[in-house]
Amino acid sequence: MANSSTGDSATERLVRILETFTPTRTVQTASEIGRRAGLPSSSAHRIVSELVENGVLDRDDDRRIRVGMHLWELATRSSHALRLRQAAMPFMERVQSRVREHTQLAILEQDEALFLERLSSPQSGSNITRVAGRLPLHASSSGLVLLAFGPAELQERLLSSRLSPLTRATLSDPEAVRRKLAEVRSLGHAIAPGYIEEVSTGIAVPVRDETGQVVAALSVVLPREAEPDFAVVELHRAARDIGRALGYRS
Ligand code: PHB
Repeated sequence: MANSSTGDSATERLVRILETFTPTRTVQTASEIGRRAGLPSSSAHRIVSELVENGVLDRDDDRRIRVGMHLWELATRSSHALRLRQAAMPFMERVQSRVREHTQLAILEQDEALFLERLSSPQSGSNITRVAGRLPLHASSSGLVLLAFGPAELQERLLSSRLSPLTRATLSDPEAVRRKLAEVRSLGHAIAPGYIEEVSTGIAVPVRDETGQVVAALSVVLPREAEPDFAVVELHRAARDIGRALGYRS
């Protein structure tokens, strides 16, 4: 890709533009996008216009810019995450209807847990997870499952980096995380009481694809004081059924 005068490629500029959109910032002017993406105003306006012409971004009648539905369509239709989500949905719905708390599906993405789906009811308690949002691996039940069953290289890299505490209960000492990962592998699930927010407990199990590899974590978020046993049983049952739907023969 052609480089600009600042040395960044067209692809890098495109990604920076898309990354200025967040769950709480879904509409922006072209000037705001340029400023947040660190681009000269003229380049930002030109690239934004090209992206609008191609349906990657949409411009409304007030000339404000949003992420385009065509981008969503392109990203979704050929994604392996879609196959995973579709296989998981019926069993996530079963967990949600029986446990009656937030039920979610996450994958490992760039050293974090990325959430593909979340089911909740109006009565469900607190939960900071967002669809297409991320949580740190060491501080969430899903993250601990993805880490425990993930590449050894990732575990070592993460354990030698700074593990930020988010609450008083977050495991931030590398040896404590190492012991927790061993526990997750031997029990087959992760329980994270108050690790990411004091008031909730996350519980997660691994989901395997047809090769037996762990490709996702299925989790529920319960109020901190809730008893985890029923949720653990339901999660294991659902993870087994999702694995079978993906072709895993255990
Ligand atoms: C967790 O998976 O540990 C978790 C996620 C979201 C919350 C609480 C816990 O709000």
